[in-house]
Amino acid sequence: MDNSVLIEAQAASLIYRDGERVVRAVDSVSLQVRPGEFVGIVGPSGSGKSSLLYLLSGLKLPTQGAVRYRGRCYTEASDAERSAMRRERFGFVFQQPYLLGYLTVLENVVVGAPDVRAYRERALWLLEQLGLADKAHRYPPALSGGERQRACVARALLMEPEVIFADEPTAALDQQTGLHVLDLLEQHRGTGAVVLVTHDPLMLRYCDTVYKLRSGQVEAVETAPAKPLTRADSPPTP
Ligand SMILES: Nc1ncnc2c1ncn2[C@@H]1O[C@H](COP(=O)(O)OP(=O)(O)O)[C@@H](O)[C@H]1O
Ligand SMILES: [Mg+2]
Repeated sequence: MDNSVLIEAQAASLIYRDGERVVRAVDSVSLQVRPGEFVGIVGPSGSGKSSLLYLLSGLKLPTQGAVRYRGRCYTEASDAERSAMRRERFGFVFQQPYLLGYLTVLENVVVGAPDVRAYRERALWLLEQLGLADKAHRYPPALSGGERQRACVARALLMEPEVIFADEPTAALDQQTGLHVLDLLEQHRGTGAVVLVTHDPLMLRYCDTVYKLRSGQVEAVETAPAKPLTRADSPPTP
């Protein structure tokens, strides 16, 4: 198995059948996500961005083609295996922030952790980084949409997953807060990959690769130029 590839889509298509209507939401997309890679997915509304995230994360199975995680084909895995992969290895930020209304923000952030107490400090640190330290003990209905979205970002980052899938995580945020969320995603790169759906060009600054979708197809792929060595990275001169 090729260890340099975490997720691979091979001519993957997702077709929705909606009564008489057939929608090819993802149309024969091939791409690879490497460990630590920051991938951007852009495109107009309805171009298949969310659907592609569902395929890459195994939330939906391709109608045609294949999607693999570390060489394991989602279609060959059971529902239980796929949901364990998502729980243990992936973090999600969905377009609509979803929090449990009867748990506090802090409880929502740690709800998926195997040992809640062990992750409490990290959860509080993340909430602080996201400007939510003073809201940790509030209940979600008492938060704004943007605050809920940030709580979801903290939850996704908590377990340092191998891949974070984020669907327009900054859409409900003002620019400064959005860039702060982006910085946290960028920091996450030391541990895992990031797959970010966005329509905001400002949010693409850290992307290694950007896939532009149109009508479910990859219309263009942009690869960032190799980053120049900074002084700290340069080998010491003898
Ligand atoms: N559950 C569904 N049933 C039928 N059509 C759908 C469904 N979900 C999405 N679509 C259609 O698939 C296409 C891609 O949708 P989506 O992946 O949500 O695009 P984006 O995230 O880029 O806005 C759109 O034409 C949308 O209307
Ligand atoms: Mg979408």
